[in-house]
Amino acid sequence: MVAQNLVFFFCCFFFISVFSEEHGVEGLGRGDKRLFVFGDSYADTGNNRIALASSWKFPYGITFPGKPAGRFSDGRVSTDFIAGYLGMKTPIPYRWRKQLAGRVKYGLNFAYGGTGVFDTSASYPNMTTQIHFLQQLINDSVYNKRGLKASLAFVSASGNDYANYIAMNGSTAGFPAFISSVVRQLTVSLRRIHGLGVGKIAVGSLPPLGCLPANTAQTSFQRCDPTQNALVDLHNLLLLQAVTNLNNQTNSTSFFILDFHGAFSTVLNQTQPHQGSPKFEKPLQACCMGVSAAFSCGSVDENGVKKYTLCSNPKSKFFWDTLHPTQEGWRAAFSTPAFQNSFNQLFQN
Ligand SMILES: *[C@@H]1O[C@H](CO)[C@@H](O)[C@H](O)[C@H]1NC(C)=O
Ligand SMILES: *[C@@H]1O[C@H](CO)[C@@H](O)[C@H](O)[C@H]1NC(C)=O
Ligand SMILES: *[C@@H]1O[C@H](CO)[C@@H](O)[C@H](O)[C@H]1NC(C)=O
Ligand SMILES: *[C@@H]1O[C@H](CO)[C@@H](O)[C@H](O)[C@H]1NC(C)=O
Ligand SMILES: *[C@@H]1O[C@H](CO)[C@@H](O)[C@H](O)[C@H]1NC(C)=O
Ligand SMILES: *[C@@H]1O[C@H](CO)[C@@H](O)[C@H](O)[C@H]1NC(C)=O
Repeated sequence: MVAQNLVFFFCCFFFISVFSEEHGVEGLGRGDKRLFVFGDSYADTGNNRIALASSWKFPYGITFPGKPAGRFSDGRVSTDFIAGYLGMKTPIPYRWRKQLAGRVKYGLNFAYGGTGVFDTSASYPNMTTQIHFLQQLINDSVYNKRGLKASLAFVSASGNDYANYIAMNGSTAGFPAFISSVVRQLTVSLRRIHGLGVGKIAVGSLPPLGCLPANTAQTSFQRCDPTQNALVDLHNLLLLQAVTNLNNQTNSTSFFILDFHGAFSTVLNQTQPHQGSPKFEKPLQACCMGVSAAFSCGSVDENGVKKYTLCSNPKSKFFWDTLHPTQEGWRAAFSTPAFQNSFNQLFQN
């Protein structure tokens, strides 16, 4: 249980920025844009390159780009869909900024699988450090104030802090206070991004983590864990209050929430195909599963024999592994009214 929970929130922090040099924030159109993404494995497109990262092992990436290349899915992840939604190319991972310098002007992805607002591993860049990378680039005049003001930032804290808390402490009684401290630290990050001059800042709500296959295994993938989902609800409530306060304090509409909770819930509860998105088979079960708690998707033994099972059609599954959606899962989540309605706030004053 603890081991599962430890891996279970291996996810997501992302943060997007869109530029529209000509029109300013009011005119954030779909033309000339720049996108920055900060986050964890739900958004990482190749920053976490440690040898243990499953994102660089087969069968990750089999749908897109066709081989393992740093995404924690069979294919595209949230970053790709958000970029697509804005009509632009996926920003390159921060670690490739020198090799692909020509692409930096279109934005960057700072997201790093496994990170949280607090430290989850000594060698991973936490949220503060990811924002620091942007600040360095601003100091080096890679991005200018005018461009930043016309940009959107999107931050999503999807639970690695909680996985770390469970591993390090696990006190049930202490959970609500810890959730408050996570949201407080997240708020510090949001305010700091605003302080760098970014005009619009979107933060993702926590998806129903109790519905991740890591947490539905106990019920043979039949039911979400209501305890985990209640904690998620508390996080999301505090986050909504924090965002409301930030707008009040800055006398602005700079901050808004992207409703990933609503998007995941809608898809996981869907009993019929809807608006071009499929009805997923056994939605609370993953396509790629380790054969036991000691193994995960992509793991092989010393002889190279795989220690996981893979479903025949990743498109039929919402979840790719015990933590992360498939490309088709992300596509479905992004096509829900819950997501689209919240994302449309980008185009409002
Ligand atoms: C983030 O990482 C930096 C660098 O290791 C560290 O100084 C800082 O205390 C960390 N911030 C948080 C909120 O954990
Ligand atoms: C950026 O410049 C400001 C102002 O000179 C300085 O306070 C800050 O430490 C610098 N930050 C980074 C990350 O270089
Ligand atoms: C765990 O959390 C509880 C409640 O917040 C706290 O009193 C305790 O000191 C923590 N234990 C550890 C090992 O951090
Ligand atoms: C808040 O912003 C509005 C619109 O820009 C402006 O009219 C108003 O005076 C501002 N209020 C404060 C307290 O700054
Ligand atoms: C912020 O909240 C206070 C107290 O509710 C209210 O009086 C004020 O008008 C609000 N300011 C803005 C800019 O919304
Ligand atoms: C599905 O809907 C039911 C009833 O509204 C709700 O209790 C449940 O939490 C939902 N499941 C998910 C995954 O959101």
